[in-house]
Amino acid sequence: MDSTTNSKAGAGVTKPNTLTITDNRTGKLYELPIENGTIKAIDLRQIKTDPEDFGMMTYDPAFMNTASCKSNITFIDGDKGILRYRGYPIEQLAERCSYLEVAYLIIKGELPNKVQLEEWARNITYHTYVHENIKKFMDGFHHDAHPMGMFVSTVAALSTFYPSAKHFDNPEERAATIHRLISKVPTLAAFAYRHSIGMPFVYPDNDLSYAANFLSMMFKVAEVKYEPNPILAKALDVLFILHADHEQNCSANAMRGIGSSRVDPYSAMAGAAAALYGPLHGGANEEVLRMLDVIGSKDKIPAFIKDVKDGKGKLMGFGHRIYKNYDPRASIIKKLADQVFEVTGRNPKLDIALELERIALQDDYFVKRKLYPNVDFYSGLIYQAMKFPVDMFPVLFAIGRTSGWLAQWQEMLLDPEQKIARPRQVFLGHGQREVPMLSKR
Ligand code: ACO
Repeated sequence: MDSTTNSKAGAGVTKPNTLTITDNRTGKLYELPIENGTIKAIDLRQIKTDPEDFGMMTYDPAFMNTASCKSNITFIDGDKGILRYRGYPIEQLAERCSYLEVAYLIIKGELPNKVQLEEWARNITYHTYVHENIKKFMDGFHHDAHPMGMFVSTVAALSTFYPSAKHFDNPEERAATIHRLISKVPTLAAFAYRHSIGMPFVYPDNDLSYAANFLSMMFKVAEVKYEPNPILAKALDVLFILHADHEQNCSANAMRGIGSSRVDPYSAMAGAAAALYGPLHGGANEEVLRMLDVIGSKDKIPAFIKDVKDGKGKLMGFGHRIYKNYDPRASIIKKLADQVFEVTGRNPKLDIALELERIALQDDYFVKRKLYPNVDFYSGLIYQAMKFPVDMFPVLFAIGRTSGWLAQWQEMLLDPEQKIARPRQVFLGHGQREVPMLSKR
């Protein structure tokens, strides 16, 4: 068994790296190994009141304190406001790298060198086109279909176009799927938008960067070549970096959980994107803008805050399960907003957002609960200034997060300790009952 030296207790005093549990029901003592600050939940199963007893389990709704995997991808220290991908601080990655470099890092573990980056970018660029039948599929949606609903369904539909993707144990097949998904998500996202406004689909322009090509597919009208403003293209690229991964959040957990059934990765990613769609997760950026619309002007903020404190709704874009100090992504986005607004003009809702933040951060309710602006609080203001409609916001999040989902999925596949995800339950329903005949009910 592991042991650890306790320096406070004096030099040379080693203490076992174990946890001793006394079961007061039986008086028995159990010694469980501690590894990486955790005990294995399955080690609790030996704790029984009698041989018939199933054994002790942990009860952890919403996984508040359960590690479901070992991971090398993303590190977050929620108290200190730290976010790192593969050891690199998010601030440095946002400043020094492109999204494609970061996607490579997240998926492969190291930053690419020049040659590796060129090959990676070429692979991504060559897969941006989608089958013509995907266009027909998307045409079938109602004109006012939510683009995230279209995105989720179309990602799932891709599995029918690439049936060989289920052979993901073959590294080449897995790599092809990873290239396809990262390259096609902007195309699907832009097609969803174009369909919703009744405009023809714009095919990818492979001369442009990842973010610039996406802007071209979104906004090109009659010009021969669409040249997006480089500041806006760069800002979008940074937003993709900030959204690329966030360890075991709701959608990453969905990607791993669905993928653990060994379904093809397109189907798993459709499930992850559906998880992201919810207003408590990636749908929050959309809700922030709707909330700012409802508030309408700065003088209405105190009344709005009072309603939130009275339990009549949430301050969207505030609070996080992990960050209890500040969300480092929100700080980067706030600075990015200034650069974007220099080009687009100031989003008038920014003043309401800034005042909302100022008031909330002084209010005991938010201070006590450690509620700070999260990534979604300011990202929507930038997206809106760049002319993205509000219902495209979660889709933009999904584009950046695709690399993270794929990295999490691949790590799960290659982890020999992982199996099909299957939580336990605490059953509190009826014991066995006799079924009465219909006439007796
Ligand atoms: N506005 C008002 N009160 C809040 C908010 C908020 N945004 N967030 C949490 N609280 C309150 C809760 O009501 C609770 O109060 P109580 O202790 O009096 O019951 C307390 O703060 C703790 O909140 P929980 O819901 O227990 O925190 P949890 O970790 O489960 O939830 C979550 C985190 C879902 C992000 C939550 O803060 C929230 O709903 N925020 C608004 C939605 C949002 O912005 N989501 C985006 C998250 S970032 C992302 O997914 C990319």
